[in-house]
Amino acid sequence: MSSYEHDVRQALQSLDFIKRIVYRSSVESTNTLTESLSRDGSEEWTVVVADAQERGRGRQGRSWHSPPGHNVYTSFMVKPAIPSDYVPAISLLAGMVVAIVLEHFTGFAAELKWPNDVLMGGKKISGILLELGSGRPGSPYLIVGIGINVNSDITEYPGQLSATATSMKALTGTTFDRVVLLNYLYRVFHEWYTYYCLHHGFMSIKKRYMQRLRMIHKRVHIESGSERITGVVQDVDAFGRLVLHNEQGETVTVKSGDVHITQ
Ligand code: BTN
Repeated sequence: MSSYEHDVRQALQSLDFIKRIVYRSSVESTNTLTESLSRDGSEEWTVVVADAQERGRGRQGRSWHSPPGHNVYTSFMVKPAIPSDYVPAISLLAGMVVAIVLEHFTGFAAELKWPNDVLMGGKKISGILLELGSGRPGSPYLIVGIGINVNSDITEYPGQLSATATSMKALTGTTFDRVVLLNYLYRVFHEWYTYYCLHHGFMSIKKRYMQRLRMIHKRVHIESGSERITGVVQDVDAFGRLVLHNEQGETVTVKSGDVHITQ
């Protein structure tokens, strides 16, 4: 057993809500593994941690660069017992939690790009991928996958990434203990998730989320599937959807997509 695996197990075993810990030195994708464990009936709060991913997956079919030895790649499964309309905004909740955790460790301000990209110093430091599994009828589950660039040297990242991504180390000049970070991340997520489920929805966390969303009143261009929307951001609604005024002056709500700020 590597020392990382040993320390991950020890740090996560101390959290009593975590029911199963699966560690891999390398895995195709922690989300894919968590999904297959969930389909096979693994319990809620099954957590997967890997040191590297061979095919880390991002939103909108993108990949997530996942070299070994430096970063956090983790996924877990929960079964939110809330009305299904309130499930998608758990994606925003996850972004807010990662922002809170990164601010705690680095002392720098984190910015959220709807729905859940976390940026520091204007560059992307973390990505979150939520996937809904169908499970047995009436028992849907949610896979939450989180990647955080912790100690990696971003200048070694391929292509454009070296210009658009950052890491906690690149930002602060110091290295961080990934295990301490994982323990804190799970503690804070569990706390906010419990609160969110009790209070049914995004309004319960809106204030904390909006403090970090810098695109309010900005003109944006959104690619959502085959749709292209241009408009000015007004708000985020109770279901976590982005509310815009489009070019025709109409109010439109967007459930998912990639946002580009144009002004
Ligand atoms: C994005 O910003 O596009 C989302 C990136 C999500 C990456 C994480 S790393 C852990 C988990 N496993 C994956 O394959 N993806 C997520």
